[in-house]
Amino acid sequence: MKIKAVIPAAGFGTRFLPTTKAVPKELLPIVDKPAIQYIVEEGLLSGIKDFVIITGKNKKAIEDHFDNYQELQSNLKSKNKENLIESISKIIEKANFLFVRQREQLGLGHAIQTARPAFSDEHLAIFLPDDIFTGKVPGMAQLIKIATQEKCNVVAVQEVPKEEVNRYGIIDIRRQFSPNLFQVRDLVEKPPVNAAPSNLAIVGRYVLSSNIFESLEDLQFGSGGEIQLTDGIQNLLLNGEKVFAYKIQGQRYDAGTILGWLKTNIEFALKHPEYSNIILEHLSKLDREFLVMQGKAESLSKKQVKINI
Ligand code: UTP
Repeated sequence: MKIKAVIPAAGFGTRFLPTTKAVPKELLPIVDKPAIQYIVEEGLLSGIKDFVIITGKNKKAIEDHFDNYQELQSNLKSKNKENLIESISKIIEKANFLFVRQREQLGLGHAIQTARPAFSDEHLAIFLPDDIFTGKVPGMAQLIKIATQEKCNVVAVQEVPKEEVNRYGIIDIRRQFSPNLFQVRDLVEKPPVNAAPSNLAIVGRYVLSSNIFESLEDLQFGSGGEIQLTDGIQNLLLNGEKVFAYKIQGQRYDAGTILGWLKTNIEFALKHPEYSNIILEHLSKLDREFLVMQGKAESLSKKQVKINI
């Protein structure tokens, strides 16, 4: 299967304001490297070489991250510190990058549509950089395997609590083939809790045929006043294309909110060979201190009660 990655990274990142006023959300670090670097690493491990990154105003730093920086390289070389940029240098060596600018932030579907000039008939491996997957087999590799075997489009899904369905695109199941593989009848973007066809939410990975560009054309603004990728996939279904949904085997981290990003950083730090023990020790110390503080707070409130009496 001929395939290129598309990484939409042109959004405003409003959930991280004011940090993201000038700093791209996609470059916020997860412990020791920017979030988007994990995504490109997953793509490379899934056998993808070509990466189309959708950027916009204030996102130039993403291009710089995936480019050579001669002065820095020579400086580090002279100090024998090249290991500091080894992980990104390896990526730059192996991957091809093309940056396409989305001039107006009209939504995820619109962002994908702006990648059209970079494609002929290749499939699109779409990665939403907020979602980071870990596990034995890279998340995207799992989707590509299904898309190749079944000759179909594939979206990654995850079960979510019923009260959270209104935050996601939700699939309506036509058939279930195994505990993890489904054929999709329909999809609906952010349905009200009591109208959701299932609790299987689309999460940040897709493999779609290049017909998605046709399907996104002339779409009306959908949920949230944005051009939605989900509506484009619905058009693929209407045109008779097969869409499967697959529960990626592994762990998903949602780093797209401040709380999710903090939790992801803590978990990644706890699993990091260099920081794991130190962080664990620090968290235990904090936990003990908080317990003591809570104890103090209790006795304080008892004192206040006495005074009030
Ligand atoms: P999100 O809605 O999660 O990201 O879009 P956002 O809009 O940047 O963040 P919030 O909601 O305001 O906090 C999913 C992905 O699609 C990209 C975003 O950069 C993000 O990686 N995107 C979104 C675009 O490239 N263009 C758009 O018009 C909208």
